[in-house]
Amino acid sequence: MIVVISIGGSILAPKLDSRNFGKYAEAVKEVAKKHTVFVVTGGGAIAREYIQVARHLGANEANCDTVGIDVTRLNARLLISALGKDAHHEPPSDYKEAEHAASSGKIVVMGGVAPGQTTDAVAAILAEYVQADLLVNATSVDGIYTADPKSAGAKKLDRITPGQLVDIVMKSEMRAGAQSIMDPLAAKIIERSKIRTIVLNGSNPKSIVDAILKGKHGGTEVTP
Ligand code: UTP
Repeated sequence: MIVVISIGGSILAPKLDSRNFGKYAEAVKEVAKKHTVFVVTGGGAIAREYIQVARHLGANEANCDTVGIDVTRLNARLLISALGKDAHHEPPSDYKEAEHAASSGKIVVMGGVAPGQTTDAVAAILAEYVQADLLVNATSVDGIYTADPKSAGAKKLDRITPGQLVDIVMKSEMRAGAQSIMDPLAAKIIERSKIRTIVLNGSNPKSIVDAILKGKHGGTEVTP
């Protein structure tokens, strides 16, 4: 199976800690024993801090996005370091490069590619590009909810269609560093290419392994 795993910066780098990168690297290696794996890393709080400083300094939104992309790529480099010889040595800067890098048989890790989106969209487009069988979006939230998980009455959904996913995420805000359960662009890509997707809480890296290898998870399954 070809699997794209999107690891949100909120779980990979809530703060910079080499042990945390090490734990995710072990989980990714476990999956890569059985499957072809691509990983997309998010920027997390550190990216938002950088973006905020850039914005205060007068940078426009596209430039703020570029600052964010640089941080996601730094996180990709750290995960590559933790994966050692199992990983392709360089984070690809586009999808074509990523596909080419995978021909080495190594785990490919990349960050952001272009302004106006987040790494959720990168992971979805990559899944489309390499015709992945499964996209796993590992975040700090338990899955897709009917509304903001913090609001009263919001219910977690175990299984939804890509169309429902689009309806839910379309309500979110779009500016550099904005936080939402999923980038609307990612949802649209998942919808148009009918990509089987699991959105789960990946705070414990083992939950990513169990979802992929055992099909067991407590998140939301998006199936056409
Ligand atoms: P993230 O993908 O980390 O965004 O990219 P996020 O929604 O904050 O996700 P978590 O918290 O890591 O899970 C960080 C920022 O980098 C820019 C955007 O500004 C985004 O908010 N970015 C990232 C891009 O402009 N293009 C990309 O391809 C990726």
